[in-house]
Amino acid sequence: MPSLLLLFTAALLSSWAQLLTDASSWWSLAMSPVQRPEMFIIGAQPVCSQLPGLSPGQRKLCQLYQEHMAYIGEGAKTGIKECQYQFRQRRWNCSTVDNTSVFGRVMQIGSRETAFTYAVSAAGVVNAISRACREGELSTCGCSRAARPKDLPRDWLWGGCGDNVEYGYRFAKEFVDAREREKNFAKGSEEQGRVPKTNLLKNENGDFSKAVYKMADVACKCHGVSGSCSLKTCWLQLAEFRKVGDQLKEKYDSAAAMRITRRGKLELVNSRFNQPTPEDLVYVDPSPDYCLRNETTGSLGTQGRLCNKTSEGMDGCELMCCGRGYDQFKSVQVERCHCKFHWCCFVKCKKCTEVVDQYVCK
Ligand SMILES: *[C@@H]1O[C@H](CO)[C@@H](O)[C@H](O)[C@H]1NC(C)=O
Ligand SMILES: *[C@@H]1O[C@H](CO)[C@@H](O)[C@H](O)[C@H]1NC(C)=O
Ligand SMILES: *[C@@H]1O[C@H](CO)[C@@H](O)[C@H](O)[C@H]1NC(C)=O
Ligand SMILES: *[C@@H]1O[C@H](CO)[C@@H](O)[C@H](O)[C@H]1NC(C)=O
Repeated sequence: MPSLLLLFTAALLSSWAQLLTDASSWWSLAMSPVQRPEMFIIGAQPVCSQLPGLSPGQRKLCQLYQEHMAYIGEGAKTGIKECQYQFRQRRWNCSTVDNTSVFGRVMQIGSRETAFTYAVSAAGVVNAISRACREGELSTCGCSRAARPKDLPRDWLWGGCGDNVEYGYRFAKEFVDAREREKNFAKGSEEQGRVPKTNLLKNENGDFSKAVYKMADVACKCHGVSGSCSLKTCWLQLAEFRKVGDQLKEKYDSAAAMRITRRGKLELVNSRFNQPTPEDLVYVDPSPDYCLRNETTGSLGTQGRLCNKTSEGMDGCELMCCGRGYDQFKSVQVERCHCKFHWCCFVKCKKCTEVVDQYVCK
């Protein structure tokens, strides 16, 4: 039975691999079915070689740390979801023209959006691996070994099992950077010639996954007679990923414009601004306006997007539709309403329907 299952998953994987031969990045892991660690128990090597989007170095890491792969995929997915949430009201909504590499062509230009995408997906991986360690899912790591914070009250215990952000950060950096390091070594190779900008950008935006690391905080639980909380046990806990997303979005808004010098280094376009720190986002290409579909820039265009007729912000029809105008239609929305609390203990609601006006870009 196990061998049958393995055959089945191998077949499934190889059909996915074919589908995704174009995949240019480990992000495609978010879309491939690397969901079950048990598939890696036997015959792991072929699985690693069939996963789409891995560089040779990442393939090696896959072989060494097979059980991590599902969590890398999960982390990338978390990152993408957060990206789509943060940009839900923008013209660029973090969706992709071609499915193969999750974020599609947008990654071929060195824009702010590209920088954000690197940041949020790497942060997602740190998050997923740190949590997996704590939950005992990985054999090479366990609870966090972070030192007791100095400001923790003396009678509180430090010792619950914390999210292992130290490990998650190190591993994610190793894995995410593997591809770029190779590219740097393979000077003059075709790939190097083709995407030097995003490569540079990736290196310069190197430390963004630290956001996850730094935002992890102390969580505590009360003990003691009947909830008296006379004793507390504390541990390190990941921040909610939404908070990480919010912070990265702020970095996106204040990202620094850079230019590439003849020596292949980055320097500030406007030297009056402060030098970006390793934790700031930087970009080298101006963003397209994302109004029209354009395969080169990875823009999907905004035709068919919902917009808000009364908003003057980016989600308003004027800006969202780039002045092309919009169509109105009626849509029926079903909501829970007239909810009543019943003793004890459930809530019963009715379904109400409401007809609302909606607007989509021409
Ligand atoms: C992208 O994937 C979805 C389902 O995952 C599919 O319906 C759609 O046709 C794909 N689009 C392209 C351009 O391949
Ligand atoms: C797509 O964008 C590129 C780069 O901005 C531009 O040169 C090209 O003309 C655009 N193509 C179309 C069809 O608009
Ligand atoms: C993003 O916008 C495109 C059209 O421009 C739409 O097809 C897609 O569903 C949107 N994605 C999300 C996550 O809203
Ligand atoms: C549209 O924008 C207005 C003004 O910003 C806001 O009050 C309203 O809630 C928005 N409507 C929807 C459906 O988001």
